[in-house]
Amino acid sequence: MRYLPIQSKLFSDNRNRFANLLPNKSVAIFHSNEQYPRNGDQFFPFRQQSDLFYLTGIEQEKTILVIAPGAPNAKLQEVLFIIRSNETMAQWEGHKYTAEEARAISGVHQIRFVEDYDLVLRELLAWAINIYLNFNEYPKFFSEVKDRNERIGLALKESFPLHTYHRAAPLITQLRMIKSEEEIKLIQEACEITNKAFRRVLNTIKPGMNEMEVQAEIEHEFTINRANGHGYQPIIASGKNACILHYIENDQECKDGDLVLLDVGAEYANYSADMSRTIPVNGHFSDRQRACYQAVLRVQREVIKLYVPGNSINQINRRTEELMEQEMIGLGLFTLSELEAQDLKSPLFKNYFMHGTAHFLGLDVHDVGPKESILSPGMVLTCEPGIYIAEENLGIRLENDILITEGEPINLMANIPIEPDEIEGLMR
Ligand code: GLY
Ligand code: MN
Ligand code: MN
Repeated sequence: MRYLPIQSKLFSDNRNRFANLLPNKSVAIFHSNEQYPRNGDQFFPFRQQSDLFYLTGIEQEKTILVIAPGAPNAKLQEVLFIIRSNETMAQWEGHKYTAEEARAISGVHQIRFVEDYDLVLRELLAWAINIYLNFNEYPKFFSEVKDRNERIGLALKESFPLHTYHRAAPLITQLRMIKSEEEIKLIQEACEITNKAFRRVLNTIKPGMNEMEVQAEIEHEFTINRANGHGYQPIIASGKNACILHYIENDQECKDGDLVLLDVGAEYANYSADMSRTIPVNGHFSDRQRACYQAVLRVQREVIKLYVPGNSINQINRRTEELMEQEMIGLGLFTLSELEAQDLKSPLFKNYFMHGTAHFLGLDVHDVGPKESILSPGMVLTCEPGIYIAEENLGIRLENDILITEGEPINLMANIPIEPDEIEGLMR
C-alpha cells in the first residue's frame, strides 16, 4: 500500500458497531469489488469495495467478510476469507496477503481461504434465520453490470430461498455517515495532499499550457505524497469548459485571460478529498472575473455557517439558492423585477447555478447518506457553490470540505488558498 499503516482498531470498531445493529440469528455477508475486465488479458485497476474496506481494511480482490454475532460455533462469528496464493500467482501477480497479514490489517482472528466459504456458510445458515446482503443502493445510480455483492447475493437467494433476506446498506450507511477521529485524520490527509497539488499548480500554470499538463502537475504531487491517485475523475476546465459540469476531457489549451476551474481531490487510504478552486491562467483576475469570484466566495462563507447540527442538506441548498439570486442580480445576470416575475418551475438562478451545494464525503467522493439527513457531529460534507456564465466563457466553483462538530464547523481545507489576493500573490 502507498499509505501508512492504519491501526486495525478502526476496522474492528466498525465491525462491532455493525454487529450491534443486527437482530438475533443473523448472518451478514460482504464481498470485495469485482476485478472488472478491460480488454484482452487486462483488468481495470482494482479499487476495493468501500464497505468491505470500512469493515476490514483489506485491499485484495475476491475477499469475503462474514459477520454472524452469537453463532453457536464461536469461531465463525467473524470470518474473513482471502485468496490462497501459490508460487505461480506470487511470480506473476505479486504478493497476496498471508493469513497473518490479513489478521494484522483487519483485526479478524478467523482467516480462512475462499475455498472454505461454502462449507462455513452452510454451517452458519443451518442456524441463522436472517441473511443481510450488501447491495449498492446509491440513489439515481444505474449500472447494467452487477457487482460481486449483487451477483453472488442473488445466487445465494436461489440456493437458500427459505431464509429471510435483509438490506445491509441502510445499516452500513448509518455508520459511514458519522466519521471517527481516525477517519477524519485520513480525510484531512487527503485534503493536505490536495493542497500541495493546488499550490504546485499555482506555481506552474501559465498561458499556453494544456489542461492535461496541469493535470500532470497535480498527479505528480498526489503520487509523491502517497495518494492512491484521484478520488474521482479530475476536472481541469479552462474558459467555457468550466460551464460543462462534468467536463473530464482536460485536453484544451489554457488561454491568456481565461479562468481555469480545478475540481480535484486526492484519495488517501481510500478516503477522498473534494476540492474546487478557480484561478486566472495568467495570474490576474479581470475586474469582471473578480466580481463573479467574490460573489461565489461570499455565498460560500455565508452558507458554511449552516453546517451545524440540526440543519439538513436541503436547507443548505435552499439558502445557497436565495443568496445566489441576490448575487446574480448584483452581477447583472437578471433584475429584481425579472426575479419577481420568474416561473418558479424554472427559476432564473438555475441558468447560472445548476447543481446542489453539499454532499457527504468519505470513502467515496459522493459518500453514502440521504439528502434528508439531519446534520450531526462527525459528518463531513462539501460546500460548493458556483456561477457558470457560458456567454462570458467563465465558470467559477469554490469547494471546501467541512466537518460538522458540536460547535462551529471545521473547514478541512482551511490551508488551501481561496482569497483572490492570496491566489494572485502565490501566482506571481
Ligand atoms: N467532484 C465532484 C463533486 O464536486 O461533486
Ligand atoms: Mn463535490
Ligand atoms: Mn468536486
